[in-house]
Amino acid sequence: MLVLFYEKLNLEFTDDCLNSWSMSKVPNMSLRKNIPSTASVAIPGQDGRLLATAADRNANPIVDLVVEIAPETGQALEIASGTGQHIVKLAAAKPKLNWQPSDIDPTRIASIKTWSSDKTLANLNTPIFLDATQVGWSSEHTNQNFVLLVNLIHLISVSETKTIIGEISLALASGGRSIIYGPFKRNGKLTTPGDKSFHQSLKATDPEIGYKNDTWMIEQVKREGLALLRIEKMPANNLAFIVEKQR
Ligand SMILES: C[S@@+](CC[C@H](N)C(=O)[O-])C[C@H]1O[C@@H](n2cnc3c(N)ncnc32)[C@H](O)[C@@H]1O
Repeated sequence: MLVLFYEKLNLEFTDDCLNSWSMSKVPNMSLRKNIPSTASVAIPGQDGRLLATAADRNANPIVDLVVEIAPETGQALEIASGTGQHIVKLAAAKPKLNWQPSDIDPTRIASIKTWSSDKTLANLNTPIFLDATQVGWSSEHTNQNFVLLVNLIHLISVSETKTIIGEISLALASGGRSIIYGPFKRNGKLTTPGDKSFHQSLKATDPEIGYKNDTWMIEQVKREGLALLRIEKMPANNLAFIVEKQR
């Protein structure tokens, strides 16, 4: 089985992946069926494991940021965990934080399970199905001390993004923090040729999706009762919005 991944094709591009094969298998869910022609192909590894070179490449900067921002203890939720390559490193880096991986895609959930089975990480839970664009999911995931979302916002619509930010805010405990990471416009502009090309390819396949603006993101998080602690510049021209639920 071949699995298609969204992945930018030069180093200015942001790292992304999207399993289009499994999207067509999932009814009535907010998985987008179109993928841009810039998709590359990845071969799954053993035991249902998926390997995204993009996730491997950006893992260390993401883990370093999470180590700084997330609390030492409590409950952490990762939305759209993807292959599972990030969560195993995160759970090892924050061993007293109880980590819950999730994804909408059953193939991804199987992959997360396989990556998780490599190591005995007592603080890493079995991955769960979570459609983060569905209104109301937070009611089953309240009191989170940390929520991580990497590389999904550019693959969904504006209204779905509003829903996710609102649900993250509802899911967070008072003083809980979240990191929302991905490629974004800066002041309405696409700032590298790679970002222009990737955004245009996303729009060409689905006009509802594509890069969101950084200033719009700031408005949205504030509207949902989240204080913006800072915006971190990340490798490959990505941004990480670091927010905290107001006490
Ligand atoms: C670009 S990949 C990023 C995966 C991972 N966070 C990473 O950075 O390697 C996007 C992920 O979002 C998941 N996804 C797509 N739509 C979703 C939704 N509505 N709710 C939750 N996850 C979703 C896909 O299944 C896929 O695993």
